[in-house]
Amino acid sequence: MIQVKNLSFGYTDKPFIRDMNFEVREGEIFGFLGPSGAGKSTLQKILIGMLPKYEGSVRVNGIECREHEKDFYENIGVDFEFSTMYEKLTARENLRFFSSLYQRKPRSIEELLEAVGLLSDADKKVSDFSKGMKSRLNFIKALLHDPVLLFLDEPTSGLDPTNNRMMKDLILEEKKKGKTILLTTHNMQDATELCDRVAFIVNGEILALDSPHNLIMAKGAANVTYTWQEDGEKTAVCPLNEIAGDEKLRQLIVENRLQSIHSSEPTLNDIFMDITGRTLV
Ligand SMILES: Nc1ncnc2c1ncn2[C@@H]1O[C@H](COP(=O)(O)OP(=O)(O)OP(=O)(O)O)[C@@H](O)[C@H]1O
Ligand SMILES: [Mg+2]
Repeated sequence: MIQVKNLSFGYTDKPFIRDMNFEVREGEIFGFLGPSGAGKSTLQKILIGMLPKYEGSVRVNGIECREHEKDFYENIGVDFEFSTMYEKLTARENLRFFSSLYQRKPRSIEELLEAVGLLSDADKKVSDFSKGMKSRLNFIKALLHDPVLLFLDEPTSGLDPTNNRMMKDLILEEKKKGKTILLTTHNMQDATELCDRVAFIVNGEILALDSPHNLIMAKGAANVTYTWQEDGEKTAVCPLNEIAGDEKLRQLIVENRLQSIHSSEPTLNDIFMDITGRTLV
């Protein structure tokens, strides 16, 4: 669905993105993960044809981005990092206006508003919306014309836990319908849950690209930590794949003396820190 070959781009003479290569497959959720200023939004803007002065090749849905025509946007939906609504209009008026710009048959505005819990706020001016409400409204704007490809820039940022869950479920529903989704996030938990594959981006460069599962597994086996009482509380750690040979653990089980036992896998955040030497925020 997306092929990026030898992409270089700079806002100044000095290239910020240098010789980048990756592909996004049809039907997958692909995540750009990286700290603030890494180049995630820049990359998305190149992919949606907003920054045509790049070198190399960027093909989206078969079209070279710098050469796209107007109908390119019939097939893609964009949820920008910042609200792109007319503040003086109501939510419903905004959605009606934006859906009128497309030739494709629009989705039901009522249903979309309902899906993100905004139906009762539909006739409020957007200027009176909270940050999280604007963010949910921005998301459904991207779905209005039912595009095959969705670009979501930080779709879960600024949402409370309930709305975060709802947003993730809606994104997964779009995937189920066969949509290809490219999203950026700072949130490793969300990325692990949503993304088929992720690219770690730092300073305009991809430092790793794989499924969250493979990235986590490449770090090595999970550990098992167990505790017992013996002149106070004692703790031992053993790799999960070696517990059969752990004599102390076997003895504690036989004697029914285990106080606690739990396994812990590295998180995507640990892997990110390992590979990039930085934290995400
Ligand atoms: N229009 C612009 N003109 C000049 N420099 C820009 C422009 N937009 C972004 N940059 C610079 O490009 C770099 C990458 O910015 P970008 O917005 O792509 O980061 P990001 O990874 O999306 O960060 P965040 O997580 O904070 O949204 C930053 O150094 C930024 O200052
Ligand atoms: Mg950004």
